[in-house]
Parts: sequence; C-alpha cells; structure tokens
Amino acid sequence: MAKEKKSSKTKTPTMPERKTRRITDDKILNAINDQIVLEQYSAQYYLAMSAWFEDKGLEGFARWYYIQHQEELDHAMIFYNALHQFGLKPVLGAIDAPPSDYESIEDILEQTYKHEQYITDSIHNIAQIAQECQDFKAITLLDWFIDEQNEEEDNTSSNLERYRLFAKENGQALYSLDNELGQRTYTKPQKLVDYEA
Ligand SMILES: [Fe+2]
Repeated sequence: MAKEKKSSKTKTPTMPERKTRRITDDKILNAINDQIVLEQYSAQYYLAMSAWFEDKGLEGFARWYYIQHQEELDHAMIFYNALHQFGLKPVLGAIDAPPSDYESIEDILEQTYKHEQYITDSIHNIAQIAQECQDFKAITLLDWFIDEQNEEEDNTSSNLERYRLFAKENGQALYSLDNELGQRTYTKPQKLVDYEA
C-alpha cells in the first residue's frame, strides 16, 4: 500500500475574519457618550457651587470647587479620548444648566456627596455593560474610574462630616476649614498627560 505523501507545507489555520466593529460596541458607545455629558454636567455643577462660595467670601471652598470642576472636565476628556482609542466616534449631547442658588454650605456639601454617589452608580453600570460585552479595553478604563470614584466619595463625605462636626456652628473652625480647602492644588491625571503628549 502506497504511503500517503505528507505535504511539507504546514497549513495555517484559517481564523474567522475579524470584524472592525462589534454589535456590542454600540452599547459601550452609548453608555460612554452619556457619561461624557454627565461628567461635563458635573463640571458645570461644581463651577456653579464655586461661584456661590466666591459670592459668600469663602475663597477656600470656592477654590476647592473650582478644582473639582477642572477634574470633572478631565474625566469627560478621558472618556472622549478613550472612545477614539477604541475606534469609536463620540457623539456629544446637551448639558443642562446647574442650579445657581443653594440653601447653605451644608446643602452644597450634602448635594456634592450625593452627586458623587450617583456618579459611582453610573460608572458601575457602564462597568457591568463592559463585562457583559466582554469588552476588556473598556473594563480596564472603568477600573481607573472605579478607583477615582472611591477617592471622590471619600473626599466629599469627609468635607461634609468635618463641616458638621467642627465648622457648622463655629466661625473660627469655618475659617480654618476654608483656609485648608484653599490649599488644594490641581494635578492633571497621568492618563490625559500621556494622551496629549
Ligand atoms: Fe467625575
């Protein structure tokens, strides 16, 4: 019996052609588009609060909120840049006007903490979509935001607690807290520095 001749050439396994765009991309795209608007709204919201503090002569609080507004703009840009990196086109939505009047310092600090909790929920929701879609690039991006939100919630709840405990009924303590918050400095996130380099 004649032996079957083996081909000297090794066959490369045929892989299914990779689609440039997956159906699940739309889910991530829509969720991140909405998040960009939410981050930009947060920036406006905190800038309006900064204006309120400035108007009351609390310059330290005003500075803290001004920097918070810059950070929110950065968050929006990190999502915006990420969509480009994922090969998706961002679609920008309308940003609502924030309230310009607030009842009190405590009212602002309380609203800020609640707002950050709301943002955390929104980030978790996108992370869940990314996991369902097995979109590993988006999962990595969202991990960064999950850590960032932990920090945001810690900072804003600490501001609220310290105000209630020490500064709410004590002018000297309020003066000290205003001075302390005024020391806040802005640092551009490394993610943005790298992207813009
Ligand atoms: Fe944010």
